[in-house]
Amino acid sequence: MVASQHELASKIGIDVLKKGGNAVDAAIAVGLALAVVYPEAGNIGGGGFMLYRRADGQAFAIDYREMAPGAASRDLFIDGEGKLIKGEGSSTVGYRASGVPGTLAGFDVAFKKHGSGKISWRQLVEPARSLAQNGYVLTKRLADLFVSYKENLAKYPDSNRIFLNSGKYYREGDLFKQPELAQTLARVESHGASEFYTGKTAELIAADMKANNGLITLQDLKNYKAKERQPLRGNYRGYEIITMPPPSSGGIVMLQVLNMLEKYDVRSLGYNSAAKYHLLVEAMRRSFADRAEYMADPDFQTVPVEKLIDKKYANERNATIDQRKASSSKDIGQGAIEIREGMDTTHFTVVDAAGNIVTNTYTINDLYGSRVTAKGTGVLLNDEMDDFAARPGRANMFGLIQGERNKVEPMKRPLSSMTPTIVMRKDGTPWFALGARGGPRIITAVIQSVINVIDHDMDIQAAIDAPRVHHQWYPDELLYEPYGMSPDTLNVLTSYGHTFAARPGQIASATGIMIDTDGTRLGAIDSRSDGEAIGY
Ligand code: DON
Repeated sequence: MVASQHELASKIGIDVLKKGGNAVDAAIAVGLALAVVYPEAGNIGGGGFMLYRRADGQAFAIDYREMAPGAASRDLFIDGEGKLIKGEGSSTVGYRASGVPGTLAGFDVAFKKHGSGKISWRQLVEPARSLAQNGYVLTKRLADLFVSYKENLAKYPDSNRIFLNSGKYYREGDLFKQPELAQTLARVESHGASEFYTGKTAELIAADMKANNGLITLQDLKNYKAKERQPLRGNYRGYEIITMPPPSSGGIVMLQVLNMLEKYDVRSLGYNSAAKYHLLVEAMRRSFADRAEYMADPDFQTVPVEKLIDKKYANERNATIDQRKASSSKDIGQGAIEIREGMDTTHFTVVDAAGNIVTNTYTINDLYGSRVTAKGTGVLLNDEMDDFAARPGRANMFGLIQGERNKVEPMKRPLSSMTPTIVMRKDGTPWFALGARGGPRIITAVIQSVINVIDHDMDIQAAIDAPRVHHQWYPDELLYEPYGMSPDTLNVLTSYGHTFAARPGQIASATGIMIDTDGTRLGAIDSRSDGEAIGY
């Protein structure tokens, strides 16, 4: 089964499985197809994380997060007066917002190390190339989305031509073709993923960067490497959880919250009781405070992973929770951990017939990333530099406060919230795999989906659809979803001292696959977004 945010991409994944490819082969084909059919987030100009659990039980994590260019430095996004630069030159829009893309390097490692060997690289790239070349019919959602991002997309000539039809815009039902992207994919198809980093595509990206005051050079592209990491493992009420280690914060924060909640009988508190929301939010507040202080690229900073996910540490943090009173984030700093120094994304999951699982989240950060399409390539570039602490101690586009450890440094990866996750049954067989889009809300969405299955006996679709809450330490406010909380519950939580966000808002969107005890694959696409889970 393939569950992704676009029907065409899911179908392409299924074709690969039918031809004898494994979950990794299918995931690569899905990822490349999404770069064409889901341009606000699917990408070859961004980066992400692939978590792979082989049917024999071995698990692998591929980190293909973007990397800061060699010329980047701590104060890159701060002007002479110490203020954050806005617009072109900022961490969110324009040429300097991009980190060196990692997607193709990541897919290359996955293919060479874990592909079935039955499907060629060409066969994985061709469906995406063909969709870019021949086009596909635009849905209303996508046609409208291009227009709603027109202000910044229009600033960059190739983005303006490709996504805004040179100001004439697209409508529902139009055939949308991306010839330059097709050519880029054709080169990648013939010469391999390295073409993007050392071939004509690399030269085009570097030339466009140079002409526009960007920092990514040919050397930066040549230097880029996807990294293999040890998956992070923890457990909740005896169920093993396999998830992403740093440079994602997602796995650690999730395990911290679950460790804290384990002490309480969440099941009998009830799915949407004030008492449960209170504990959940207090656990989130504390874990996000730790995120701000301790988490960053592990190749640049020592991240005290083991201590942060230790159950004893969770007990210490729990001891500071009053069951009837909200803490104030200003009183909740990071826990005392001794260190010995030595707004777009998309998630998809594939489970093949043999039981191999790929669960992958990748992103260009904001919708349409930096809004820059590198000239002549059709490749929309990310704005992942904003996931660094552009100004340590101040909020980024997601309102996240991050510290010095996550400052901009050359060739460093920005801290992420992406949380591809696999949960095992107690008998050691895989139960469900999932992930989400939505910045820091990814973490809280995945946490609540896991709790909904384990504590509240929901199936994967119900677990993903159920209303959620979110708290990320700062801003010190409890976000809930439209129709997601009864007025009585809201009143109780207010009486505990919680401050609610000014208005409710959507909290991330998730996709996942559950494997039933008889082996049936149950696909789930969040009702908050598009997508299709397809089996065969
Ligand atoms: O890596 C991260 O945490 C962010 N760049 C993810 C951004 C995101 O999910 C935006 N989505 N809707």
